[in-house]
Amino acid sequence: MSAPAALPVPRHVAFIMDGNGRWARQRGLPRIEGHRRGVEVVRTVLETAWQLGIRQITLYAFSAENWKRPVEEVGALMGLLEWFLDRETARLVENRIRLRTIGHVEALPPAVQQALARATAATAGFTEHTLVLALNYGSRDEVLEAAKAYATAVAEGRERVDSATWDTFSRYLATAGLPDPDLVIRTSGETRLSNFLLLQSAYAEFVFTPVLWPDFGKAELTAAVAEYGRRERRFGQTSEQLNPAS
Ligand code: IPE
Ligand code: IPE
Ligand code: MG
Repeated sequence: MSAPAALPVPRHVAFIMDGNGRWARQRGLPRIEGHRRGVEVVRTVLETAWQLGIRQITLYAFSAENWKRPVEEVGALMGLLEWFLDRETARLVENRIRLRTIGHVEALPPAVQQALARATAATAGFTEHTLVLALNYGSRDEVLEAAKAYATAVAEGRERVDSATWDTFSRYLATAGLPDPDLVIRTSGETRLSNFLLLQSAYAEFVFTPVLWPDFGKAELTAAVAEYGRRERRFGQTSEQLNPAS
């Protein structure tokens, strides 16, 4: 008997990292302690992901809507982001991981922008693995801006409406040049997208886990990737078409 075929591994996994506040509340700690622990978890998740053969990770770190949170929490999140970048840039370089961002980073505090610019420049030449941070990101804004830029390009004769395809339009999205997510994982039991990669996830598989982000680790990621491997992605076809011999 031949060995069973290895399960497919997602090329790109996107995370909606949720539940930091609840993790802290359950322990009688301030919300920021949950965020701090949430940042610690990122390192383990990234290491596990690369070991599993995942090539790209996108982390929803701050949504365009998260500005509505108390100003102290927003400030603490920005501080943690800067701390993460200062601490992790050397490791990204060592592991040859390219850093990219999606979202309006120009609205982030200058110190965060500088840390991002340093990390992005230091890792720009790497091609095997990519870490994308979604920062001040919102899918609807992204699509609206892409539509506006596309309309301008049509008006200026750089694009033609009659030959428009998803490929030509999607180059105007923040994710231009990046593959779509194969797997989207949301922690903390919430089963919504919260304005994250709405179009790019058109054919993604979803794993919703009740585990809070600060408790998410190697075992949880490995299980989610195995679950992905057992799914059949049909992209509109039938199971029989995909497995003609069975
Ligand atoms: C996710 O955890 C982190 C961010 C949104 C930045 P939350 O802070 O949303 O945690 P809960 O949902 O309040 O538990
Ligand atoms: C989504 O989490 C945003 C991030 C993980 C950065 P939220 O906790 O902000 O989402 P909602 O408000 O519960 O939908
Ligand atoms: Mg939340």
